[in-house]
Parts: sequence; structure tokens; C-alpha cells
Amino acid sequence: MTDVHVVGVGMTRFGKHPDADSTDLGAQALLEAVADAGIDPRLIEAAYCGHVFQGMVTGQRVLAQVGLAGLPLTNVENACSSGATAIREASFAVRAGEYDVVVAVGTEHLTSQFRGALTPDPSDPEAAVGATMPSVYAMRARRYMHEFGMTREQLALIPVKNKNNAALNPLAHFRTRITVEDVLESRPVADPLRLHDCSPVTDGAAAVILMSDKAKKRFCDTRAVRLAASTLRSGSVDVEPTSMTFEPLTRLTAQDAYERAGIGPEDVDFCEVHDCFSIAEVLRVEGLGLFGQGEYPAAVQRGEADLGGRLPVNPSGGLLGKGHPLGGTGVAQVVELVRQLRGEAGNRQIEGAKVGLAHCRGGKAVGIEGAACTVQVLTR
Ligand code: COA
Repeated sequence: MTDVHVVGVGMTRFGKHPDADSTDLGAQALLEAVADAGIDPRLIEAAYCGHVFQGMVTGQRVLAQVGLAGLPLTNVENACSSGATAIREASFAVRAGEYDVVVAVGTEHLTSQFRGALTPDPSDPEAAVGATMPSVYAMRARRYMHEFGMTREQLALIPVKNKNNAALNPLAHFRTRITVEDVLESRPVADPLRLHDCSPVTDGAAAVILMSDKAKKRFCDTRAVRLAASTLRSGSVDVEPTSMTFEPLTRLTAQDAYERAGIGPEDVDFCEVHDCFSIAEVLRVEGLGLFGQGEYPAAVQRGEADLGGRLPVNPSGGLLGKGHPLGGTGVAQVVELVRQLRGEAGNRQIEGAKVGLAHCRGGKAVGIEGAACTVQVLTR
């Protein structure tokens, strides 16, 4: 069975794009990935497109805009893990020997769909009691502070770190450095979370070109990065009240990924995790087993998750700084991993990084712990 390699990456600027739609953004990202791979786009044999709120057959519109209509195309919706799931499906097709060259795109024009806080699906209990995404995470933050003694200032260090990383990323939604005081003085959204604790409503797209061993050797040998694992799980049914501060879904998906890649959490050099809110980064890195439970806030305070730290977390700026166009997010995380592993991340480069991990988790359904979780491991 062949390995799968990422040989080209592309990404639009993340932010507000009032003059474009998800098709335009997806097409731009796809063309950039093709140019980055340095291949003739006619080599692409199949396409996978992740999006959430963009309506029917978004992927077909993207392909038509770049002159690739007619390819086998699979649209993928898996909440915030849509783009990552598109990569996983694409990698399976290569691994199975069906295709040698495929593209995975993730795209979302979120500002045309939402103003203000995103709401859960109307069928969910959270929606029935009027909760929004920020308020759900606010309750988890409050509970974590109660259980582990995290201070509000410690929590504020996470958006500070991520937005300061985003200031080094020319494609990020936010490019301004902030301080703990900026976080604590920003407007309240859902206590204890304030504006800077929330990812923004973002438009954007990203794309990656995947190849088999055979195609990689022929077309793009030198800059390829190996996709060592791409795992996915959906949440189990909650039969009793579950912890608000530990994510079994993240833990199980990560264990699958570590096993598949033949590594342990101690081998990860840096990661991009789903920090849709500041507290989410805490829950995710601890769920991934990268830090012990209750230990991450103090580690951030010691600088361990900084660009120059022991385990840099969200060097791209993460969802808090780079932005969160739902369908585009999982693919953009892999774009960052590839740029870091190739040594092409400019002034946010992590020296000597060999193993990068990306984590996405999103969605909810009645009685289900969390809808979809993905973990991808890339190695050089
Ligand atoms: N962080 C920092 N600043 C933000 C921001 C954020 N998350 N969201 C908005 N702003 C700032 C911007 O400067 C904006 O100015 P601009 O219009 O010049 O860009 C200003 O606030 C007003 O923005 P607006 O979009 O009107 O804010 P809002 O009150 O409607 O929305 C939130 C703010 C926090 C409610 C919204 O960003 C949100 O819900 N974020 C979470 C998204 C989410 O749930 N994603 C899925 C998670 S799984």
C-alpha cells in the first residue's frame, strides 16, 4: 500500500471577503496549491471539497471555475471537521490505489451566513435553552477554573499567544499583537469569555494536493511531506452526564492517529488545534495527551506553547488569530503544518520541526458528545 504525501498547498487570506463567495475562494486556494506543487492541473484525477453552510454542490462550482469540471468530486460536510474529513477521504482514495493525484479543498463564506454568535442546530437541547456557541464554551471555562484553579489571566494568555502568532502570518484574519489587558478589557460575550477569547466569523479557503509514492517520485519529490495519519471519529451517545473539562472524543481520535503514525504524544514537535474559544485550546491539547489534565494553563504561562517553546501550539495564529471559516479550517491547519515542516513559515518558523499534528472538532447533536473529530499527523 502506498504512503500519501502532501505535495502542494494553497490558502486565501482569511478575513472578510465581501466581494467574493465560497466558490471564488475555493478556486483561488486550489490554483495556489497547484502552482505550489508545480504540476499541470490536468494531472488531478479526483477532488474532495469540505464546506458547512455553503449549500449544494459547492465543490462542483469550484472545479468549474478552475477548468476541472468533470472530475469525480465528493462534497463533504462534517461541521468544523469538514475540511479535515475531505483530506482524509482524499488520502483513502490514494492509499487504496484508486488515484495517484487528488486535491482536497475546504471553503466557507461565513460572513454571508451569520451575523453575531453561531447557534447550535435547532434540534439540540442547547438551542432550545437559547445557548450559543460562546455560551456553551463559557460554561466549560467556568467549570475548568473551578476544577483546576485556572485564573482568568492565565486563560487570557492563550489569545495573546495566538494573536501574536497571527501577527506574523500574512494570511491571518487578525494581524495586531494584543496583551492580557486587551483581552480582559475587551467586551464581554458570555461570562467569563470576552471578545478576544472567541474565534471570529471568517471567510476563507485552503487546498492541498495529495500524491501516491509513485506520483510523488515522478512529479514532486523534493518538497513532499508525508501524511502519516488522518483519523476521524464521531461522538458516542451520552448515557450519563459527561465531563465538561475532558474530551474522550479528542483522546480516542488522537490515540488512533498516534497508533497509525507509529508515534506517541511525546514525539509531536508542534500542533495546530481547534481553539474556537480560548478554553477550547486547553481542552484540546490536554485531550490529545500533549499536556496532563489541568496542567496546560501553567505551561502556557511558562512559555512552553510559544513559537520558541517546548511544544508550540497554533503557530499560524489558530482559529483565534488566523480565523475560522468552518469548512476551510481543517485544510488550513494542514497548510500550516506543511509550511512549517518544509521550513517555509518565515518569521514564525519552528526550527527543526519534524512531526506536526492538526486537530479539529466540531458539531453537536442531541445526546451525542461531539459530532466529528479529526487528527492528522504529518512528518518530514
Ligand atoms: N475577536 C476579536 N475581535 C472581534 C471578534 C473576535 N472573535 N469578532 C468581532 N471582532 C471585532 C472586529 O474588530 C469587528 O470589527 P470589524 O467589523 O471592523 O471587523 C467588531 O468586533 C464587530 O464585529 P461583529 O462581527 O459585529 O461582532 P459580533 O458581536 O457580531 O460577533 C462574536 C462577535 C464573538 C459573537 C462572534 O465573533 C462569534 O460568535 N464568534 C464565535 C464564532 C463561532 O462560534 N464559531 C464556531 C465555533 S466551533
